[in-house]
Amino acid sequence: MNILGIESSCDETAAAVVADGKIVRSNVVASQIDLHAKYGGVVPEIASRAHLEQIIPVVREAMATAGVTESDIDAVAVANRPGLIGSLLIGVTAAKAIAWSWGKPLVAVNHIHSHAYSAMIARPEAPEELLPAVAMVVSGGHTSLYFLPDTSRIELMGRCIDDAAGEAFDKVAAILKLGYPGGPIIDTLAREGNPKAFPKLPRTWLAAGSLDFSFSGIKTAVLYQVHGQDMLAPSKVDEMSRGAKADMAASFQAAVVDVLVGKTLMAVERAGVRRAFLGGGVACNSALRAAMTAAATERGIEVIFSPPAMCTDNAAMHAALGFYRFRAGQLADLDLPVVAG
Ligand code: KG4
Ligand code: ZN
Repeated sequence: MNILGIESSCDETAAAVVADGKIVRSNVVASQIDLHAKYGGVVPEIASRAHLEQIIPVVREAMATAGVTESDIDAVAVANRPGLIGSLLIGVTAAKAIAWSWGKPLVAVNHIHSHAYSAMIARPEAPEELLPAVAMVVSGGHTSLYFLPDTSRIELMGRCIDDAAGEAFDKVAAILKLGYPGGPIIDTLAREGNPKAFPKLPRTWLAAGSLDFSFSGIKTAVLYQVHGQDMLAPSKVDEMSRGAKADMAASFQAAVVDVLVGKTLMAVERAGVRRAFLGGGVACNSALRAAMTAAATERGIEVIFSPPAMCTDNAAMHAALGFYRFRAGQLADLDLPVVAG
């Protein structure tokens, strides 16, 4: 069963064809990073316009790369939440138009839930045998822990109460004037730095046993280290050597990774499972992958990362989850709304 997936929730226009929720026949992503880089973040109006230009060519390319035509497609799956309203509207409207004109069912998926299940694509031999599991979604907008009993139920265990992990990476990179998006830049620079150079950067655990996250404190702590407490004084960042920035990047990353790994292990214990999935853009992070693998192995827990191309925003993860929703008869109407949150 072939599902055409469509993604447009933030700054990536994407389409993919996935068979039976596990075989990725194509996965096309048109990134807008170059358009937003000079503003240091995503500009919603620019994002919507770029989606509008890209959506049809991207869908055509996904169909051509997969070697399929409309008669081979069984359903169209689209993320209708959460995201930027103007961006979501482009993908959802395109998905509705394609579903209607091809006479195919429409399936709605939640973007974050797709990230949560996306690690299953790493094991196409028997993805459903991986459940039940705990899933950690670490993206630019979300840091969430879920319990996944099966493909039709998903239970939120913990979430971020302020800045998401990816947002903290991006903001710390901006403070250090490293460029955008910050996650991959910090990941690379941190390899040259000492993760113990700034031991006082906070690890925010919140209340004992809490599975929620907070990353705004560490971002502010980095800001104070770089600027001092006087925000009106000129920033000292231009005087920082590459080595000093690398030390800060490594120390910041180590603090975030400690909390992400610690809380994922707590969630696994609480859910009574032996398997953790990691997805979302920050799940590409090399230090997180290494620390999570080491800690999980020590405790006899299996950790499965989404393949790197399925970590950052993509439509294959929507086509995969869309297959399970479609199989369960969960279809959307053509009046499907878009929802920001
Ligand atoms: O999942 P994603 O593509 O988009 C959202 O749904 O938000 O995640 C984007 C986030 C950005 O904040 C980016 O800086 C971060 O993922 N990211 C990384 C890495 N690659 C991407 N963060 C840390 N290390 C990386 N290697
Ligand atoms: Zn995402």
